[in-house]
Amino acid sequence: MPLETRPLHPFIGCEMTGIDLSQTVNSAAVDAIWAAIDRHAVVVFHDQRLTDAQLRDFAALFGPLEIGRGALQAGRRRLAIPQIGDISNLDEDNHIRSRDDRRRLDSLGNRLWHTDASYMPTPVVLGMLHAVKVPPASAFGGGETEFADMRAAYDALPDATKADIDALIAEHDIFWSRGQIGFTQFPLGEREKYPPSPQRLVRRHPRSGRKTLYLSAHASHIIGWPIADGRLLLFDLNAHATRPEFVYSHQWRVGDLVIWDNRCTMHRGRPHDESQPRDLRRATTLDEGSTLQEAA
Ligand code: OGA
Ligand code: MN
Repeated sequence: MPLETRPLHPFIGCEMTGIDLSQTVNSAAVDAIWAAIDRHAVVVFHDQRLTDAQLRDFAALFGPLEIGRGALQAGRRRLAIPQIGDISNLDEDNHIRSRDDRRRLDSLGNRLWHTDASYMPTPVVLGMLHAVKVPPASAFGGGETEFADMRAAYDALPDATKADIDALIAEHDIFWSRGQIGFTQFPLGEREKYPPSPQRLVRRHPRSGRKTLYLSAHASHIIGWPIADGRLLLFDLNAHATRPEFVYSHQWRVGDLVIWDNRCTMHRGRPHDESQPRDLRRATTLDEGSTLQEAA
């Protein structure tokens, strides 16, 4: 079957068909997937059934893999492979976590618009989520994941704003983003392990050459500005960048694999019926250096 691409939105997101990602994926297919990522920033595959090992091996074709904050915490873990992030509401025994479970509350930070791991000195590139169990539609919502196009958002800014913000550097901090939802129960030593990181506010995507906003719930303020001014600028930019015309909302089906480019998108999870299991598995590729080392 030929590999085919169909856009899902005027700016962001496409669907790819004609490939079984559990089989060996050759370099021509990897190139075609990269081309789709560079153009659409989010790429959706349906009807895939990947084991965690297959997801890891597929993701590793696109770069070295991150071991996330969750997998590095002490204690038993539900998933065996450290490079596979557990994006679920399930505990080590596959039971739904209670409302006040610390790990559940920490993961609720994913409901804020963000780009992954921007609080790390070297942030990440691709996120890949694979749906193993999805909650049914409910009055609370269906647990969709929304993606916003930071390239289109940058393009739509007035020229004067672009000139004002192009050289700014924001400080990104996991403690700031979690603090916004009142989460402070970090394990002992995490503050020291994850100090804030400076990142360019405007990046040039190294593959597409397009300029893009680099925003995230982790972004706390602008370095060199009074905290209040920086925070207000970030609030305004976030409101602009997540306007509906820049957003693709992904409604999950079991077997979906969604790839996004964290360098030029934000994403957030949406609410769902918390009595139902939601089980997504994530692999993430690492960047090579800080955004400060990138060409402007
Ligand atoms: C993530 C994330 C959102 C969701 O896995 O990085 O933010 O919908 N997930 O679960
Ligand atoms: Mn995320």
